[in-house]
Amino acid sequence: MGSTSRAAAFAAAVLQAGLSGALAREAAPADREVAGKVDALLARMSLEEKIGQLTQIAGGAFPPGNKPEEALRRGGAGSVLWLNDTRRFNELQRVAVEESRLRIPVLFALDVIHGYRTIFPVPLGMAASWDPEVEEKAQEIAAREARAAGIHWTFAPMVDIARDARWGRIVEGAGEDPYLGAAMAAAQVRGFQGPTLGAPDRLVACAKHFAAYGAAEGGRDYDSVYVPEGLLRNVYLPPFRAAVEAGAGTVMSAYMDLNDVPATANRFLLRDVLRGEWGFQGFVVSDAFGVGNLVAQGFARDRRDAARRALAAGLDMEMASGAYPEHLAALVRDGAVTMAQVDAAVRPILAVKMRLGLFNRPYVDESRVAQVLATPGHREYARVAAQRSMVLLRNEGAILPLRRSLSRVAVVGPLADSRADTEGSWMVFGHVPAAVTVLEGIRNKLGPAARVDHAPGPDIRRDVPSFFDQFLPGRRKPAQTPAEADAAFAQAVETARGAELVVMVLGELANMSGEAASRASLDLPGRQQELLEAVVRTGKPVVLVLVNGRPLSINWAAEHVGAILEAWHPGTEGGNAVADVLFGDVNPGGKLPVTFPRSVGHAPLYYARNLTHQPEGSPMYQSRYWDGPTTPLYPFGYGLSYTTFTFSGLRLERPEVRVGETVGVSVDLENAGRVAGDAVAQLYVHQRSGSDSRPMRELKGFRRATLRPGEKGTVRFSLGPAELGYWSTRHGKWVQEPAAFDVWAGGDSTAALHAELTVTP
Ligand code: BGC
Repeated sequence: MGSTSRAAAFAAAVLQAGLSGALAREAAPADREVAGKVDALLARMSLEEKIGQLTQIAGGAFPPGNKPEEALRRGGAGSVLWLNDTRRFNELQRVAVEESRLRIPVLFALDVIHGYRTIFPVPLGMAASWDPEVEEKAQEIAAREARAAGIHWTFAPMVDIARDARWGRIVEGAGEDPYLGAAMAAAQVRGFQGPTLGAPDRLVACAKHFAAYGAAEGGRDYDSVYVPEGLLRNVYLPPFRAAVEAGAGTVMSAYMDLNDVPATANRFLLRDVLRGEWGFQGFVVSDAFGVGNLVAQGFARDRRDAARRALAAGLDMEMASGAYPEHLAALVRDGAVTMAQVDAAVRPILAVKMRLGLFNRPYVDESRVAQVLATPGHREYARVAAQRSMVLLRNEGAILPLRRSLSRVAVVGPLADSRADTEGSWMVFGHVPAAVTVLEGIRNKLGPAARVDHAPGPDIRRDVPSFFDQFLPGRRKPAQTPAEADAAFAQAVETARGAELVVMVLGELANMSGEAASRASLDLPGRQQELLEAVVRTGKPVVLVLVNGRPLSINWAAEHVGAILEAWHPGTEGGNAVADVLFGDVNPGGKLPVTFPRSVGHAPLYYARNLTHQPEGSPMYQSRYWDGPTTPLYPFGYGLSYTTFTFSGLRLERPEVRVGETVGVSVDLENAGRVAGDAVAQLYVHQRSGSDSRPMRELKGFRRATLRPGEKGTVRFSLGPAELGYWSTRHGKWVQEPAAFDVWAGGDSTAALHAELTVTP
């Protein structure tokens, strides 16, 4: 074999293992032991008991009249969700393990998305840290708290790539990029689950929503997705694959139609890709009511057809809709579903319960809960996570950091003192917000010597109420009358006028992003823009702190407000962390995990687009809007610091490599300012020609590093088949091709420092 074909064979092998092939996993002895026990149990189960394991039911007061005991007593449910009550967990578990025939324990599931009692920044904020270690540690703490409270399984991480800021669920994921998304997905799985499924004090993770939910047309939640296979493989699937490779025990199917086949009954996704190619050994749960929805989606004829087709496609556990218990037994008796299909779905569910040790230790120790929840250490870490998630978007004339000698500050805006909105979405299950608000954080920082006034201004609210608000009775105030809103407006401006400096805390309520929270505008909702302009007109220096769950089109602020800090919904310690950053105890180092468009009309806007035939910047460039710039307001990867970093000396170990080989890339980095700070070195590549057109830039490496003033460092990356290969539409498979590549390194996705790499056959 000549060296060229050797290299090609090697490349093929690497690609097979690294990018496309099934992960051939040898069953470990422990796996074999579990498999043996599962089979022994399965042999004793009736068809109805098997179907019970495939059934997840609600455990709380929703839906009204719910009686979970009845189902558990007859072995009619394998898992319970939407319950968050430690004593009730034990009560229900007791029914399952003491009153049901086979004593199979229940798996308790809940959405523990960004913390359980100690709340971390929303996932989009966590991704803005560009720090997978912090994400891992945060989810480890979330797991410890939730497990102590009796929860076994979280419906997280949400790893949907989202490129359309109108989509409310953009807040739940890591943003627009598959490389950053994959890193955050894997980190979260490690954090939730620990080194192995069943590790003490951890949860089972669930990568959701499989797949491409984030590409909903028009950014409308649950709407159809049309994504060609190349885009699916190159962009939407990598975070799922990373979660599976990190050992995620479960996967949740998405609601929507993917290329006209609902994800809930999508054999290509659930069988061919997930199990066939990736070797996933866990189980798949539908999204809530997903199987029943197949009828509404115009796919299944009726619920019986829905149950049959979902199971056949590889959907193991049905969440909440009840079509499996209604129809599977008859389907088996009629020969439309085989017992082997049912067994194959039950096996991984029993295996997860065994790995968790639930057969030996089904109960939770109620006396331990209080001592585990919200320990000072957990809160302290929530503060660190929030500090690291913040992105400084603007700082004209170095208005930040603020002087601690300020004697009179106004903290203005509807989000300045709202605990629930400081914590963000997904707090629906009996969680009492314990957040430190931005107002409190600033008061804590300045102490009694300073006067810190507050005025919320007019309320903001959704025009169409959120479905989830019904679970948060009393949390939302009654609507203001126009006269009350005017008075609140005037009072806010007055409060600002009396201060030396104004901190405006504006953005979105928690229920304005998240599920069923899409928007047709990306402007500041309500009268916030008007209030901001009125306060700026007072001539007082203004710092804008954004509390929100999606990119906002803050063009006016980006020109007229001195400093803008993107704080996201920063969690339990959010207000303290904001104050730490505003007053310079912490130098912000977060970077945007998502592009900020100038207007909603630009959505979807993301950096990794393909080139057009007229290069951007040329007079012929017409792939633009004539009524404004096409560039983002803030690009992906962007974020300022109180210091300045310079990147230099981008170099490749060798300018030429063969297909299948890996080359080292280094870039030097210097803190050229007077304070310590964090930079995120980012590496981007572009394949100049090939079988398919490739995006003009793709992130292929990043590292967050702390440097003292004047300190220099070198960041090393490597580029190999995983970074240089892609799934080719022309070939219908993963390829790595000989081609010229552009390589850039720097502090955001517009990095100019450039090198060339040639990949030869
Ligand atoms: C959401 C899922 C969630 C599930 C259970 C659904 O409405 O789409 O993300 O995990 O409910 O609460």
